[in-house]
Amino acid sequence: MKIALASDHAGYPLKEEIRSYLEEHKVNFTDFGTYSTDSVDYPDFARRAARAVLEEGFDFAVIMCGTGIGISIAANKVKGIRAAPVTNVELARLAKEHNHANMIAFGGRQTTKEEAIAMLEAYMKATPEERHQKRIDKITGIEEEQR
Ligand code: RB5
Repeated sequence: MKIALASDHAGYPLKEEIRSYLEEHKVNFTDFGTYSTDSVDYPDFARRAARAVLEEGFDFAVIMCGTGIGISIAANKVKGIRAAPVTNVELARLAKEHNHANMIAFGGRQTTKEEAIAMLEAYMKATPEERHQKRIDKITGIEEEQR
């Protein structure tokens, strides 16, 4: 498994916690930045993580900004990305099972390290349910209409 990590400055401290967790558990990941709390723009990091998932063979991405909202909105502009901002373990599981989310987003200013790790574990343990595929196909259909 290969995970892409990306955040803006507001998500950076939580990204560092996720990094440590992945290192401890020997999970393969690449950190696409940002690398400090200096102010940056979350769409740049959403785009970079999207490229990692769609073009570089990463299984999924964990993305973070202050709320998890802005970076999700930006990521969801990329055709093929289904980014879910999640705030509890059940949502993290359902994002994978029902929505086949290929990115989960956390709010770095809203979420503790423990909460984020519990959500990440729930997402990783979950399996996309086939019965929802027709809805995913309809989402893809909407993308095709737009572009
Ligand atoms: C940055 O201050 C903040 O606006 C950003 O991280 C995010 O929360 C936007 O949705």
